Amino acid sequence: MTLYLTQEEVRSLLDMKGAIDAVESSFREMGLGNIEMPPRVYLHFEKYNGVMIAMPAYIKTLDAAGLKVVTVHPENPTKHKLPAVIARIILNDPSKGEPLAIMDGTYITAMRTGAAGAVGIKYLAKRDAKTAGIIGLGVQGRSQLLGLKEVRDVELVKVYDINPAAKKAFVDSMSREVGFDIRPVDSVQEAAEGSDIIITCTPSTKPFLTGEMIMEGAHISAIGADTSAKRELDTSVLKKADKIVVDFRDQAFVVGDFAEPLREGAIRREDVYAELGEIVIGKKTGRTSEDEITLFKATGLAIQDVGTAFRVYKLAKERGIGREI
Ligand SMILES: NC(=O)c1ccc[n+]([C@@H]2O[C@H](COP(=O)([O-])OP(=O)(O)OC[C@H]3O[C@@H](n4cnc5c(N)ncnc54)[C@H](O)[C@@H]3O)[C@@H](O)[C@H]2O)c1
Repeated sequence: MTLYLTQEEVRSLLDMKGAIDAVESSFREMGLGNIEMPPRVYLHFEKYNGVMIAMPAYIKTLDAAGLKVVTVHPENPTKHKLPAVIARIILNDPSKGEPLAIMDGTYITAMRTGAAGAVGIKYLAKRDAKTAGIIGLGVQGRSQLLGLKEVRDVELVKVYDINPAAKKAFVDSMSREVGFDIRPVDSVQEAAEGSDIIITCTPSTKPFLTGEMIMEGAHISAIGADTSAKRELDTSVLKKADKIVVDFRDQAFVVGDFAEPLREGAIRREDVYAELGEIVIGKKTGRTSEDEITLFKATGLAIQDVGTAFRVYKLAKERGIGREI
């Protein structure tokens, strides 16, 4: 029998605290070498400006194995009133192979990505960070803000989106939800300048964040560019960062934020200081001074999905939620 969980059921079982716990554990297991995670496999729907991605992973210490199938269609929210990112996750029992669960992965993708940003902030941003800037106010803008709330007591969040309606909807709904002072601003520059934490989460194909917008001591969470065609960071950001941390070197070097600067010879692979898992297990140190500039580049890992889905599955079994099919 296989347990089926709808998005509503997954939502009832997973909050941001739980997602951060699952994702930090997944990065820890990666740092310790206890995972198997082959490269992602892509199908390109060029005529629809979309992709479909297969993401398998096995976390050996948890005995959690599974596959996420996720599609990314940036025009979905405006054209079809659907999320840009849609996913399902299948968990399999590594001992017998049988499928344990099939569940919505759209909500898990949103939450595990906000959680990855939060784990980056936990280890790399200033402890007393007070001001944050978020650029891109869709699903990820919300989830990154929820993640931030769990790890830092910020007082002011400046937010920017090229779509004024998205900005208004974000300010209205998130001010109520998080209780921070959320201030809409009119440019990337305004969101970034003077911010201790800068979060970029757009599907932009052109860099918009430059080194001169970033102050000493800032931490940047670069979330949006997860394919070779997308790019948020100008090369000057990479040059200005004292510590560049990525979720997974192999994936990071092919996404737009790194691929172009590497091709131009502006940065070298050795300029990446660490993978996040190495910092979580203490093999490499996180932030060491108040004025260093840190950057975490997230590309999204299958271990985040499998680790989070496994937590949801265990809770569902404990609480008798979902239906066997
Ligand atoms: N790194 C990861 O693990 C990971 C996981 C999930 C999604 N993503 C990526 O994050 C990005 C955002 O995903 P989402 O689900 O939030 O999408 P979304 O469509 O819900 O929101 C994106 C928002 O960005 C805004 N935007 C687009 N270009 C902009 C620009 N140049 N400046 C400012 N705002 C801009 C849009 O108006 C929209 O409001 C996508 O590229 C997605 O593939 C990455």
